[in-house]
Amino acid sequence: MNLPDKVKIVEVGPRDGLQNEKDTIPAAVKIELIDRLSRAGFANIEAAAFVSPKWVPQMATSSEVMAGIARQPGVVYSALVPNMQGFAAALQAGVDEVVIFGAASEAFSQKNINCSIAESIERFRPVAEAAKQNGLRLRGSISCALGCPYQGDVPIAAVTDVVRRLRELGCDEIDIADTIGVGTPQKVQAVMQAAAAEFSIERLSGHFHDTYGQALANIYASLEVGVSIFHASVAGLGGCPYAKGATGNVATEDVLYLLRGLSIETGVDLDTVVDAGQFISTHLHRKAASRAGNALTAKRGNT
Ligand code: HMG
Ligand code: MG
Repeated sequence: MNLPDKVKIVEVGPRDGLQNEKDTIPAAVKIELIDRLSRAGFANIEAAAFVSPKWVPQMATSSEVMAGIARQPGVVYSALVPNMQGFAAALQAGVDEVVIFGAASEAFSQKNINCSIAESIERFRPVAEAAKQNGLRLRGSISCALGCPYQGDVPIAAVTDVVRRLRELGCDEIDIADTIGVGTPQKVQAVMQAAAAEFSIERLSGHFHDTYGQALANIYASLEVGVSIFHASVAGLGGCPYAKGATGNVATEDVLYLLRGLSIETGVDLDTVVDAGQFISTHLHRKAASRAGNALTAKRGNT
């Protein structure tokens, strides 16, 4: 089986990883985390979300965070943008990539962004146009592509329908997101292949939460069908405020370890990511949820 030679990892820890933390994390800590990740060599870091602070209080410091980071040339800094109010703030903050985020499940769309799927597309339309007019990259994210915490099964046709609508809005990249980590390899391959009938597989990404421990298997299954962009969260941070019990994204360190073993190039330095994972876990007073990160840290202690 031919696997891609290169993979782009989108590091989503600073946004997806931290958005659900109960205690407010100082902007300075988020800035240091992002700067450490920038130095690790990621081409793309999801750094912020310009959403309502009433809905997601942890992201209220997004402007301050964006203003404080030391931008590395060539790194794309992304932010979630649900509407034009968020777009204005994102533009002001100088984000490189705007992420419009919808869902393949009606119930989740209502809970997460307070509107139906069709309404969300209409809200995204001016955001997409404004992003293009301002020369920004545009990414679209599809939650619940492998299952929904409210509705259960999500038909593949519901996913491909949203892929098509996001393509029509001009997205440069589209994320197939397993919000609650319920997907398994064959289903993931079926969804990816169906999505690829609507949108170039080179620009489709896998965003896998690891709630059921399937994320690495799902990444491998996605590689087998030609997907070469994956989202991951340093130290496995995270959870979704509108998906109770959902854990973080797959840990970046684990994905890097897997890809290194497969001789797939990422351009990311695993050791620097392990350090970043230990940094944020120490701040959060918990052990990192990355198996490879913890193993490599323990090994360092033994030498
Ligand atoms: P709404 O209440 O329907 O919005 O929320 P509204 O337009 O009626 O405005 C209500 C209030 O929110 C107003 O303030 C607005 O100013 C304010 P008030 O007058 O009451 O004081 N407001 C905003 N403030 C700051 N920035 C904004 C903004 N927009 C309105 N952009 C809305 C609709 C979409 C805003 C809300 O539902 C929201 O912010 N939702 C965000 C949910 C979220 O961030 N969820 C987590 C991220 S998604 C995720 O994690 C999934 C993903 O990782 C993929 C996966 O794993 O599935 C991407
Ligand atoms: Mg997510």
